[in-house]
Amino acid sequence: MGDPRRPHLVVFTGAGISAESGIQTFRASDGLWADHPVEEVATPQAWQRDPGRVLRFYDQRRDQVRRARPNAAHKALAALEKHGFRVSIITQNIDDLHERAGSRHVLHLHGEILKARSSVDPRMHYPLPRGGIRLGDICDKGSQLRPDVVWFGESVPHFADACEIAAQADLLLVVGTSLAVMPAASLLEHAPLDAPCVLVDPEADALAPPGVARLGQTAGRGVPALVRHWWREGRLWMPETVVE
Ligand code: APR
Repeated sequence: MGDPRRPHLVVFTGAGISAESGIQTFRASDGLWADHPVEEVATPQAWQRDPGRVLRFYDQRRDQVRRARPNAAHKALAALEKHGFRVSIITQNIDDLHERAGSRHVLHLHGEILKARSSVDPRMHYPLPRGGIRLGDICDKGSQLRPDVVWFGESVPHFADACEIAAQADLLLVVGTSLAVMPAASLLEHAPLDAPCVLVDPEADALAPPGVARLGQTAGRGVPALVRHWWREGRLWMPETVVE
């Protein structure tokens, strides 16, 4: 996770950081869950009931991810890392935009849509078959392959690792998440008490828990503005006002 002497920014991201790249968020009025009820496409029960429908749902999302490009927020975080800061990204997103922007330390709490896994053993990961996962694609343990994504009601395998990373933050940056899903949203409680926390989201005023600084802007504007501050100062601090 990089040189312990350098300032360590821990970034916790949600669907909002990928919104400006053209990837739908979940809980907006025109969000993904408005078109596709969660219980029909993103639960173990949905998979048992109609695996073909689940596979088609994730094919559509994978196409959106493949058409998407990293935006200014993803790129600013990768640039900060290249300029000597330790940057650890913990994302709820299943897209690969942080990686494609150049971030090297990315932990996916809810899985990765461009990977496959055994439908009986979550530790068995497989490269995505060309053309996506089809019924009949069997892992070497003899079970149907499924998207390597954490569904509602399933455990979040890397949450303990994420808490350990958050506990080493000099500053916690939260971007583009409604903080609606546990245990992911409780990550904020694992940052050191003396580490500043700032939340970037157009709805920041409504979302930010007490004690969290808020920047009511889109990720594409707010994150580069903050990164410029930190870059110029050579340290992580929460400016009173963020000058764009
Ligand atoms: N820039 C920054 N934030 C934005 C932008 C933007 N351009 N557009 C929308 N947002 C914010 C919204 O205001 C909202 O607070 O992004 C957040 C998106 O919230 P959700 O749709 O609930 O997405 P997220 O918080 O990532 O959901 C968490 O829930 O459905 C599960 O597994 C899924 O990982 C997901 C988890």
